[in-house]
Amino acid sequence: MTLAGKNVVLGVTGSIAAFKAVALASELVRARTLVDVIMTASARQFVAPLSFQAVTHRSIFGDVFAANSELNIEHVELAERADIVVIAPATANTIAKLAAGMADDVLGCTVLATDAPILLAPAMDAHMFDNPATQENVARLRARGWEVVGPAAGRLASGLVGVGRLVEVEELMGAIRALLGRSGDLAGRSVVVTAGGTQEPIDPVRYISNRSSGKMGYAVAEAARDRGAQVTLISTPTALPAPFGVQVVYVNTAEQMLAAVRDAVQEADALIMAAAVADYRPARPSAEKIKKADADVWQLELVKNPDILAQVRGDFVRVGFAAESQHLLENALAKLHAKQLDLIVANDISTPGSGFAVDDNQAVLLDAQGERLALPLMAKRELADQILNKVIKLLGQRRAK
Ligand code: CTP
Repeated sequence: MTLAGKNVVLGVTGSIAAFKAVALASELVRARTLVDVIMTASARQFVAPLSFQAVTHRSIFGDVFAANSELNIEHVELAERADIVVIAPATANTIAKLAAGMADDVLGCTVLATDAPILLAPAMDAHMFDNPATQENVARLRARGWEVVGPAAGRLASGLVGVGRLVEVEELMGAIRALLGRSGDLAGRSVVVTAGGTQEPIDPVRYISNRSSGKMGYAVAEAARDRGAQVTLISTPTALPAPFGVQVVYVNTAEQMLAAVRDAVQEADALIMAAAVADYRPARPSAEKIKKADADVWQLELVKNPDILAQVRGDFVRVGFAAESQHLLENALAKLHAKQLDLIVANDISTPGSGFAVDDNQAVLLDAQGERLALPLMAKRELADQILNKVIKLLGQRRAK
């Protein structure tokens, strides 16, 4: 995984959201990164340095004149060893100082001295963020190659609702993974992923769908992003947040998904169809809500949906999924051949703890050359990386041809 062993410098500034940075530091430690926290003087008014020290098990930096620092010249050493600098929360004041290149504290000095990518997560009152001064400062930092995540809309400390909230820890982690993965083994590649179960309307309030949660497709999209790919995720409505740095196209029906896939694959190196596409849709969806009738039986006529994978062909690696409850390998191989795929991910939905709506999956990867990789039960994110390993191999073979 991309994060283990990386050095993260986490700059915390004086915002009510500073407490969320403790949770971020804890998550980073859980992902086995080394976290060096720099707190500005005002951050220390909101959260005690001890909170960060307790989760990172390391000294906290921030005092330029600290006599007892274990580092030689603190900001220079922090700047040099950083794989990424994350400033979360970033106040309007800190953003202004950093945009001006000021170096009156350890954070300012470190930022000036580092070559590492920098992620900025603003948090402030909505009007302060809207102010042209802040907007210009953020734009200047972006122009220097900084990545900016958020702020999010929601209830602010003032009680007002607006755009100014620090994004959630999960999104910060996604942004950190994405930035660190930029030069990964899929850098320069474009990957299209589909996710979720299609929704085929019966009338304005009802639809036919399936149990797909979208988790497998989202895991593939995030894994590809974290390996440097440009990712387009074509998703039905799910409960999952849009992953940072991924272009998400929302669709409902199989026909809409087909149109979105056709559009997205034009420049693609790989299409990974993790979506559970309904094979049939109601023949005549009603424009008005269908009322209950006296009859005890209601027959709904269905017509066949287009088979997206079978129809979308081109010079890219095509990967399908086969969710089966019996004859796993025979059924999967039949699909691999019928749709002329490069790879199929076969999973037995009757395996306990695997498949729909859970976090784990057990699969066999079958490719067009007859290679077979039977994988144990693993996290969907891990399976996503296994699938991408295969995709990278297939892309290499394609180039060699
Ligand atoms: N798929 C697709 N378009 C469809 C149906 C499926 O692109 N209309 C894709 C799925 O996203 C998946 C693969 O094809 O990657 C296999 O889907 P599946 O529904 O298991 O295959 P079917 O051929 O529909 O077979 P069956 O439903 O009989 O199992």
